Amino acid sequence: MKGKFIVLEGPDRCGKSTQAKMLVNHLIALGKEVVLTREPGGTPTAEKIRQIVLEPGLDIRPMAELFLYEASRAQHTQEKILPALNEGKIVICERYTMSTCAYQGYGRGIDLNVINTLNQIAALETKPDLTLVFLMSDKYFTERGEYLFSDRLEQENVAFRQKMRSGYLEMIERTPNAYLIDADKNISEIQARVIELLKENHITD
Ligand SMILES: Nc1ncnc2c1ncn2[C@@H]1O[C@H](COP(=O)(O)OP(=O)(O)O)[C@@H](O)[C@H]1O
Ligand SMILES: [Mg+2]
Repeated sequence: MKGKFIVLEGPDRCGKSTQAKMLVNHLIALGKEVVLTREPGGTPTAEKIRQIVLEPGLDIRPMAELFLYEASRAQHTQEKILPALNEGKIVICERYTMSTCAYQGYGRGIDLNVINTLNQIAALETKPDLTLVFLMSDKYFTERGEYLFSDRLEQENVAFRQKMRSGYLEMIERTPNAYLIDADKNISEIQARVIELLKENHITD
């Protein structure tokens, strides 16, 4: 049987990693086989690309940045995501194609049609069965992290984050099986909502 592909999306510090780990534990307790992974990265080659795109202060032009993300995705999808799905596993991935539209498209202004085409190619037509988009009020951005250790992308400014936020909202509207998660809520409330959405989408019973 084919597996299920769950993607967690949303800006930095909105709780994706926290909820992803909790979801893995929940699914393992239900006896499911689960793979937790992330983008950019997820395989040795893709993690090397991740190091480049996240290096503070490195000069990366928007189009080069886009292709780095897509290179990471192509490797990750072929090497790890598709084989796991073909083995019937549940794959939980932090960030996927929607992040590229949000950052490189809505954020940096690269044509969304170009990005969607590259996304499809790199994802080998793989589409999430469920996309959970975590969005929180901007005030929590500083509360939930230390600026001191921010990587290159976390140093983007408030206006950039606002552009991405409206981009994510638009994408939720036109993406099948995509849901907004109110990331202002506390960790256990969010977890309960995530578990509910898995049931509603027939990923768990
Ligand atoms: N619902 C929440 N309420 C308050 N703090 C949270 C919540 N979810 C996560 N955090 C905290 O916020 C920080 C960022 O969370 P994290 O899961 O790493 O976000 P992301 O993976 O989206 O960048 C962590 O310190 C985490 O413990
Ligand atoms: Mg994270």
